[in-house]
Amino acid sequence: MRMRVLVTGGAGYIGSVVTEELVKDGHEAVVYDSLYKGHRAAVVSGAKLIEGDLMDVERMRAALSENRIEAVIHMAADSLVGESVEKPAKYYRNNTVAGLRLLDAMIAEGVLRLVFSSTAAVYGEPEKQPIEESDTTNPTNPYGETKLAFERALGWYERAYTLRYASLRYFNAAGATKLCGEWHDPETHLIPIVLQAAAGRRAHVEVYGDDYLTRDGTCVRDYIHVVDLARAHILALGILDKGSRIYNLGCGGEGYSVNEVIETARAVTSRDIQIRMGARRAGDPAVLIASSDRIKSELGWQPAMQDLKVIIESAWHWMQGHPDGYKE
Ligand code: UFG
Repeated sequence: MRMRVLVTGGAGYIGSVVTEELVKDGHEAVVYDSLYKGHRAAVVSGAKLIEGDLMDVERMRAALSENRIEAVIHMAADSLVGESVEKPAKYYRNNTVAGLRLLDAMIAEGVLRLVFSSTAAVYGEPEKQPIEESDTTNPTNPYGETKLAFERALGWYERAYTLRYASLRYFNAAGATKLCGEWHDPETHLIPIVLQAAAGRRAHVEVYGDDYLTRDGTCVRDYIHVVDLARAHILALGILDKGSRIYNLGCGGEGYSVNEVIETARAVTSRDIQIRMGARRAGDPAVLIASSDRIKSELGWQPAMQDLKVIIESAWHWMQGHPDGYKE
């Protein structure tokens, strides 16, 4: 079924790929983005861009009604764990309060279908691996806390206002399409940092600790290709009328350690990548691996690109084609 979909944060890294996939599938995509972190050039042709703030309920209402929007994918957020500890007010405002404003606008306009970008950070220090959706949520930073607060609000809004939502708890999104890739300033994520080192844009990669209880002492994460992640949003759109769901999104298995990411990037790029061993980064759990059995069995979702080599190759190709990111 073709839908008219508004994507908040559609000029950001994951949002741009979700928008690209929507357009590819013949949906009508309207990006609503303040461009405070997003990039105009990341919005694929075929999608409409509305520059606006989530706090601006009137503007959002107009965007919803004028474009006869049927569903919203809400991806606009701040997402840096470290920054959230320094600036919790910013995270409560942009992730929780602004999200509630969006819901005000949606309810006022009778748009009652939502797909929400949630995060593995809602679990905090996990009680077991792989992590299932029913596991305890106990965030250890304001980023996870503010995402969880919004997710919990969705539960109450569902009862009272018949809102239907899918909350997708992402593990480590990575990789790129030909058109859209990861370009943050500052960059904090491992794979783009490693590739910047391969490209000679930084002298070395600092590895945040090698004394974890993991196979090689470095942290293990569950990397998921951004296109596989985007496809899950489109599947989720299709089931909203059947009820609300929460899904983990990762590839599962053994995950990859920081050292394994660096080794794979060396093989993919055939470049030297210097490392420096550093201290642990505050708040990093040793291992984060998703069980994505729920979305696999309920929606038939399957990652098509779970091999880390394929993920890193796609990111490397994008970076070589966009050495300065999205020039604006
Ligand atoms: N790392 C390094 N050096 C770096 C950058 C990262 O060693 O320069 C390590 C980190 O310590 C971590 C791993 O690489 O062990 C991955 O780090 P990222 O910053 O790429 O990703 P995170 O796992 O920290 O973050 C992801 C999402 C967040 C989310 C978090 C949940 O990007 O949005 O998972 O814990 F909150």
